[in-house]
Amino acid sequence: MLKFLLTETFPKGVLNIQLHRPEALNALNTGLLAELADTLDNAARNDAVRAVVISGDSRAFAAGADIREMADLNAIGVMNDPRPQHWSRIAAFPKPIIAAVNGFALGGGCELVMHADIVIASRDARFGQPEIKLGIIPGAGGTQRLIRAVGKSLASQMVLTGEPISAQRAYDAGLVSELTEPDLTLERAQQVAEAIAAQAPLAVNQAKDVLLRAQETHLSAGLAYERKAFTLLAATEDRNEGIQAFIEKRRPEYKGR
Ligand code: CAA
Repeated sequence: MLKFLLTETFPKGVLNIQLHRPEALNALNTGLLAELADTLDNAARNDAVRAVVISGDSRAFAAGADIREMADLNAIGVMNDPRPQHWSRIAAFPKPIIAAVNGFALGGGCELVMHADIVIASRDARFGQPEIKLGIIPGAGGTQRLIRAVGKSLASQMVLTGEPISAQRAYDAGLVSELTEPDLTLERAQQVAEAIAAQAPLAVNQAKDVLLRAQETHLSAGLAYERKAFTLLAATEDRNEGIQAFIEKRRPEYKGR
């Protein structure tokens, strides 16, 4: 029984996960983060799930780590904190994640956005890493992923001033792939997720893996990794099905094999 998340799996292979702590603007306390990691672990094993949408509510995607919870931790508490393990499990989720962002995506909320493969945002969304205002710095990848997402100058401005940026600025900088009207964000994210869920699952998961690798490695190693994945997919039934369906002018029926 989940306490901090609302979940629903749709017939077309999309799992919707809604962060649900409205009284704290969906602040990511440790319980919520553990539930999210557990839910994704289960979804990774479930063939019926082919893509995941993570959303908050109209006021906030998530306003960061839970500051009240953080107040109780000393250095040893932070050292033994289970949160980095939860974050690692979220980062290791092998299927595509689409973030549907309305309102605030701050601190850990912005870091969760950056764990998504695709970000669809409402025009009223705000993205920021305000940790500096608390005398700390981002602790769940915010410095490293933000600089890769928006470049050094804007990332440094956001992390060093703590000031958020608008959805339009986030879109222009490449943090967000599409902007929507506020009441259409979730619907659009679901459409994108369904479009992905209709593709061959092994190819989708390989594509995610190879895309993420681009952030970790230099070009020639990344190209070699891509080629290996491309070759591996030649051994799948779905690859033959996809090509055959094109030639026969019909829709492919993918089986994930
Ligand atoms: N943790 C705990 N509670 C939070 C929270 C957070 N991150 N953000 C908001 N809340 C709570 C507020 O305390 C408030 O609760 P009460 O009604 O019980 O007082 C409720 O949510 C509503 O918030 P506000 O009244 O503050 O709403 P607002 O519209 O006036 O302001 C806001 C919205 C600008 C987002 C403001 O809430 C805010 O600045 N929140 C903190 C943002 C932040 O600093 N996030 C970074 C956290 S640290 C982190 O994330 C570390 C990391 O990298 C892992």
